[in-house]
Amino acid sequence: MPNTTEHWNKIFAAKADPELGWYEGDASQTLRFLEGIPHLESATVFLPGAGTSVLVDELLNRCHQLVLNDISDAALNKLKDRIQDNGKVVWLYHDMSKPLPKDCPLADLWIDRAVLHFLLEEPEIEGYFDNLRAVIKDGGFVLLAEFSPDGAPRCAGLDLHRYSAEEMAYRLGSQFTLIRQERFNYISPFGDQRPYIYALFQRRNSD
Ligand SMILES: C[S@@+](CC[C@H](N)C(=O)[O-])C[C@H]1O[C@@H](n2cnc3c(N)ncnc32)[C@H](O)[C@@H]1O
Repeated sequence: MPNTTEHWNKIFAAKADPELGWYEGDASQTLRFLEGIPHLESATVFLPGAGTSVLVDELLNRCHQLVLNDISDAALNKLKDRIQDNGKVVWLYHDMSKPLPKDCPLADLWIDRAVLHFLLEEPEIEGYFDNLRAVIKDGGFVLLAEFSPDGAPRCAGLDLHRYSAEEMAYRLGSQFTLIRQERFNYISPFGDQRPYIYALFQRRNSD
């Protein structure tokens, strides 16, 4: 089963949000990681796979601009119907393993919950991190939240590449410093335990 628009559109068309295996009714685990980040109110925040997450609603109240991307136009359309974007949102419909459009806004913060781990082939993973490095400003922050190495090997009918904070740091490269990491035991709507690694990094200022 490939990680395609068709695959994700079928899921988002068939299920209400609370029936999704990754659904969170509140985004407090992610929001806790953002507490120390300065000047959020003037920040541009990039979500590489926004899905229909309630995090979007929270960020709309806290940030200056959101770049909401997904490989699923069905997910983006659900989100467009739900939120009042008040001109704060740049919508992108893009496969994050492929180079982003040249006019994509630069971002102060990148938040990925359960997107990166669906990329399996090395060129796809490298393409994702090339995009991240092209978008995140010097001094900017990156929060990656992915299934941990002892977590489930599959999600949404797809195989996963699970991550440690060490592998995240290695793939981001030497410009990024690990600020904080935490193991978080997410419980799915079906009661299954899904251990994640949350890791926050900051990009150093270039001289
Ligand atoms: C498990 S869901 C998580 C959604 C959201 N981040 C959340 O926490 O609710 C994975 C999301 O990543 C999107 N996705 C998967 N592969 C992608 C890719 N290569 N590029 C962009 N989005 C992708 C899916 O369409 C889906 O919305």
